[in-house]
Amino acid sequence: MTQSHPRISKAVIPAAGLGTRFLPATKATPKEMLPVVDKPAIQYVVEEAAAAGLDDVLMVTGRNKRPLEDHFDRNYELESALGRKGDAARLAKVQESSDLATMHYVRQGDPKGLGHAVLCAAPHVGDEPFAVLLGDDLIDPRDPLLRRMIEVQERHGGSVVALMEVAPEQIHLYGCAAVEATTDSDVVRVSGLVEKPDAADAPSHYAVIGRYVLDPAVFGILRKTEPGRGGEIQLTDALQQLAADETVGGPVHGVVFKGRRYDTGDRGDYLRAIVRLACEREDLGPDFRTWLRRYVTEEMQQP
Ligand code: G1P
Repeated sequence: MTQSHPRISKAVIPAAGLGTRFLPATKATPKEMLPVVDKPAIQYVVEEAAAAGLDDVLMVTGRNKRPLEDHFDRNYELESALGRKGDAARLAKVQESSDLATMHYVRQGDPKGLGHAVLCAAPHVGDEPFAVLLGDDLIDPRDPLLRRMIEVQERHGGSVVALMEVAPEQIHLYGCAAVEATTDSDVVRVSGLVEKPDAADAPSHYAVIGRYVLDPAVFGILRKTEPGRGGEIQLTDALQQLAADETVGGPVHGVVFKGRRYDTGDRGDYLRAIVRLACEREDLGPDFRTWLRRYVTEEMQQP
């Protein structure tokens, strides 16, 4: 059965958001370019796609997003200056981001929601399954989630979402899935989805985190999906329709993720992500942890 599917090679990364939670930093700089330790947040996401074998990346951007294109392109001036200085280490860092994947860009025009952003990818994706990665969620490369999702999609067909168990008071921040167990302990069958429900109405504690492997039938549904929560065309609403009628685009499964995820969606989460990732870096971690331990101990002693 696996052989009947084409290899999944395309990743779509919606990056048209205004980043208003990070103003004024994002007045002239896309939020995706904010550094997480010393790399722009978006580079982690493209690296994750490339590591899962997705070597064709389409970014859905908007106005003021030119720095994203520049970041994943060559910078000959900088490269030749570093080359002349013989600074091979920094030269490698500059070249890293332009060697990751074949990059493509499409503009969303009107920001009509995540579902609409994904629909903008339809002409590029065509009639094959594809992945969607949301930039606010960083997944630790030591806990490969996307590869597992692709495996599950290749086995069952249809679409696959990434799920994580969250506390009931957190569920209103996410899409939430109604699920049934399967014979694989990390895989569930998704029977319904609802975008950002109140805790009382949530069908489970399973939150959709920002990784999807989608059947192209989702495009046909998105074209007809009316604006939902927040007046936006929601990807979750289109997936709910796929889950409700699997004759359209096959079943919807969920991979339950128990690994390390770093949220960079708001300022508090962003700070926590930087501290956690800095602590784990081989080069910066040892010194930073020593400093952090001392800082926290001293802070705790303050009245
Ligand atoms: C989006 C999706 C939501 C999902 C979340 C994951 O929401 O609409 O279903 O749970 O990403 O991060 P956003 O956080 O963009 O509002």
